[in-house]
Amino acid sequence: MKMIRFVGVFTACAILLGTFTSCASNLKYSGSALPEYAYDETAPSLYEEFADYFNVGAAINPSDLVEGTEQYNIITKQFNVFTMENDTKPDHVHPSEDTYNFTNTDKFVEYGEKNGKILRGHTLVWHSQCPDWFFYDDEGNEVTADVLVERLKEHITTIVSHYKGKIDTWDVVNEVLDDNFGLRLSNWLKIIGDYDGDGDKYDFIEIAFRTAHEADPDARLIINDYSLETSENKAITMYNMVKQMLEEGVPVDGVGLQMHIGYDTDIEQARNNIEILAKLREVNPDFVIEITELDMSCYSWGDESTEIELTKEFVQQFDDKYCELFNMLMDFAEQGIIDTVVFWGYNDGASWLNGFPVANRTNHPLLIDRDLKFKSAYWALMNLPSQRQTAD
Ligand code: XIL
Repeated sequence: MKMIRFVGVFTACAILLGTFTSCASNLKYSGSALPEYAYDETAPSLYEEFADYFNVGAAINPSDLVEGTEQYNIITKQFNVFTMENDTKPDHVHPSEDTYNFTNTDKFVEYGEKNGKILRGHTLVWHSQCPDWFFYDDEGNEVTADVLVERLKEHITTIVSHYKGKIDTWDVVNEVLDDNFGLRLSNWLKIIGDYDGDGDKYDFIEIAFRTAHEADPDARLIINDYSLETSENKAITMYNMVKQMLEEGVPVDGVGLQMHIGYDTDIEQARNNIEILAKLREVNPDFVIEITELDMSCYSWGDESTEIELTKEFVQQFDDKYCELFNMLMDFAEQGIIDTVVFWGYNDGASWLNGFPVANRTNHPLLIDRDLKFKSAYWALMNLPSQRQTAD
């Protein structure tokens, strides 16, 4: 009897120990010795871990660029591509017809050059955060198509030339598609319309890309939009429009998927939609897809609540969703389709999702928390590349 109990206890211990050691040895990052804070000197690097797959980036703000701060150390270690969250938008850079304000983006470029980072310019043409002066004359009347085309060209030429050879990638146009089908009825579309008379109204987009390409022939030029991963209609609309533009010689190098997703987003739908967009490589084999503004809301779309309890089950689901997404993105990276994944921000406290689409909400969409501690999602992702290599 005693012997049986001993054997039983011994077996249970052995199984437990076996499970523990096999988990520990399978995972590159696990256990209690991992650094707690993202600014810890011993912290590993997200972009280095994913170097075989894609660049990993973040949207940042001028306050992140102060050398020696925790924020500066975190972004410099974790990411190798950057976008300014607001400071390169038309309302910041070109607030009135005769005023260009390059100060903050110049500092961003200085940071990037010093640290060998890839830089993205966001964005040249958008319906939002775009000053009204573009669309009206001094008397307050709407300008003609000719005037707006001239303003558009001058705007793009001045900005892209200023950063020629310094900003690697431009989101040339942002959110030009409607939520359902077709083009968004922005002032750009409404005023410029079918400028060349060929029957489509892609003209302001075509002019924007051609002008940007003339100003910096080496820059990568992206057409950026949201919900491309969830709405098949929108992905097909994008595909059709870009296909036509490519066939007409418009220099579009890639589509940017913003990827403001949720913990409940269907990743297989996203895979399907990316496959649709990847067919643009049949027209241009070098055509790429970038993930430009990734974050994962903890609230379902339509939910109006402002607080969510981070239960163990919820956090597990959140982490699993990030892993499922990154595994899918790595599949595309292996085919050369995706080479850049940029988060919209890098810590939960500074995320725009604390105020959108519901004011004063507390959201937790990123990999680093409000105290600048690594979240479990960070470690789950950090383990993926080595797990994948072991599985191969
Ligand atoms: C957001 C910024 O994060 C906010 O700080 C700002 O108040 C509004 O714009 N899609 C885009 C980004 O292309 O430019 C937006 O950024 C988020 C949605």
